[in-house]
Amino acid sequence: MWPYPTMIAHRGGGTTAPENTLAALAAGLRHGYRAVEFDVMLSRDGIGVVIHDADFGRTVPGSGSVPDTDAFDLVKRDAGGWFGAAFAGEPVPLFVPFAEYCKAHGIWMNVEIKPAPGHDEATGRWVAGTVRTLFARETDSAGLPLLSSFSTAALRAARAAAPELPRAILFGALPPDWEGQARELGVVAVHADHRRLTPALAQAVKSAGFGLFCYTVNDPARARTLLDWGVDALCTDRIDLLPADFI
Ligand code: G3P
Ligand code: MG
Repeated sequence: MWPYPTMIAHRGGGTTAPENTLAALAAGLRHGYRAVEFDVMLSRDGIGVVIHDADFGRTVPGSGSVPDTDAFDLVKRDAGGWFGAAFAGEPVPLFVPFAEYCKAHGIWMNVEIKPAPGHDEATGRWVAGTVRTLFARETDSAGLPLLSSFSTAALRAARAAAPELPRAILFGALPPDWEGQARELGVVAVHADHRRLTPALAQAVKSAGFGLFCYTVNDPARARTLLDWGVDALCTDRIDLLPADFI
């Protein structure tokens, strides 16, 4: 039901390094984490980059947006200076070398398909097609990245492009028809905001045969409670507080 790791570093390295960067992956490794969640969006010229916000201004200085900028230009942007001077110049990563780094270091991936508005299908298709190519020789299904998204259109496109890859649907609060959506999309797991989850909902998800992942859990006592409810996995920003072997 959930053959993947239990503890997952959110956005690469949580709050120990600038999110969604190679420096974040390195920080995760230093903290013993071998499982990450990160966000992938398409550049103007249709290349997947690792970034959360479509608009510049928070992690990348200036104005403009990812879907209006070519990958060639995006990789020259500073995605680390906002976090601290020591990370200034840390680039916006291209997805392919980012995933290759994970493969090389034995880091399992939850790839969140994060389409910029209006780019749902293209992003789902690109991520799934690219992961299929990168993992064509993977013989252990538990080693495949798990593709997740809030966007049902992106998940449908991902399924059409690479039906063999595992997918998960992301929710805030689980809607009343969560199970119908999950079955219709053929996902293996449900990803939920832990603040909106209840023990009864957790049990319902597990009883229905889906994996259950929670985001973003930063308090060890809360993590313990969720795991006691039957939650299979969680991502955390506090990889410094929650050890990778916390179970
Ligand atoms: O995939 C879990 C979590 O990352 C979803 O929310 O906004 O942090 O991408 P967000
Ligand atoms: Mg995310």
